[in-house]
Amino acid sequence: MTKSPSPAAPLLAWFDRNKRILPFRQNKTPYRVWVSEIMLQQTRVSAALPYYERFMAELPDVRALADCEPDRLAKLWEGLGYYSRARNLQKAARIIVDEYGGELPADAAMLRKLPGIGDYTAGAIASLAFGLPEPAVDGNVLRVWSRLSNDASDVTLPETKRRMTAKVRAAQPQDRPGDFNEALMELGALVCIPNGAPLCGECPLQSRCEGYKAGTAPGLPVKPAKKPRRTEDWTLGVVLFEDGVLLEKRPDTGLLAGLWQPAMFPGTLSAEEIEKRLGAQGVVAHAERALKPARHIFSHVEWHMTGYLLRAERFSPPYEPTTRAQLESGRALPGAFKSVRAVLEKVL
Ligand code: ADE
Ligand code: SF4
Repeated sequence: MTKSPSPAAPLLAWFDRNKRILPFRQNKTPYRVWVSEIMLQQTRVSAALPYYERFMAELPDVRALADCEPDRLAKLWEGLGYYSRARNLQKAARIIVDEYGGELPADAAMLRKLPGIGDYTAGAIASLAFGLPEPAVDGNVLRVWSRLSNDASDVTLPETKRRMTAKVRAAQPQDRPGDFNEALMELGALVCIPNGAPLCGECPLQSRCEGYKAGTAPGLPVKPAKKPRRTEDWTLGVVLFEDGVLLEKRPDTGLLAGLWQPAMFPGTLSAEEIEKRLGAQGVVAHAERALKPARHIFSHVEWHMTGYLLRAERFSPPYEPTTRAQLESGRALPGAFKSVRAVLEKVL
């Protein structure tokens, strides 16, 4: 590791010429920046864009978000995954209304106290929306910085993040702190890309990049191997009743909290077995056919799902018959059940 001059000037010049025109870069209010940064945390820009536009159209300000019906909010988030992000957005919006008169505080430490806002998001809102000199270090920035400084420290360690955050802070130009942060993220998204070879030939920082000079950049950043995901086998029952399908609301905590699901049992069951299990819950149903097996990957677990299409004569709580219209307007069926949605589009 050697000390390089601040990359600010060439980075900002590159950003001014090459940045993408994105909706959240227009009219950068604190609210718009906040929602975009939360959406972009676990979601690619291209995947988030349609959600972002729809969300902003329906919930244009903090008060609208605070007042939104939770099922409606889940519906606006349906398919994006990591639904706790939406629940935390609303919790924070309610605090902002109750305690700050509906305006996000212009202070990183105060932002940091709100649900769902960590160091990165607090720094991003503070710098991008309020012009405050705060760093905003996400995975993109850790990657770029590891390469620039040829630093092979494990970027998953809090100590590494703390140290790199201090370096970013020191390099930040006082007149454009937000643009500097966003330029680092943009360089990470467009040029200093993840998974192998960065596009160093297009990089405005090549002449001052230690990782490029040493030839080590493609192998950076260093992260320990991930633990393999646990897999779980499930059997789904897509149970039709009259003109709807029986759905059950998931518990208010844990995976996919508060969202809707079809009947679901652990293990891989036969048609007779699932009829029996449903019967024990007061649902008299007959299996009509097996469904195509499906998988869904969450961050820590992978679901392997088999299932059946059934028709019921009788149902009982916790199941609720749900029509196509209800599915479209108010009940969020998470992306994990994409295969079920496809079946329902044909049969409902
Ligand atoms: N990823 C997260 N926030 C971003 C932003 N403002 N610009 C580009 N990529 C991002
Ligand atoms: Fe990344 Fe290459 Fe630019 Fe260095 S020169 S910052 S490794 S793209």
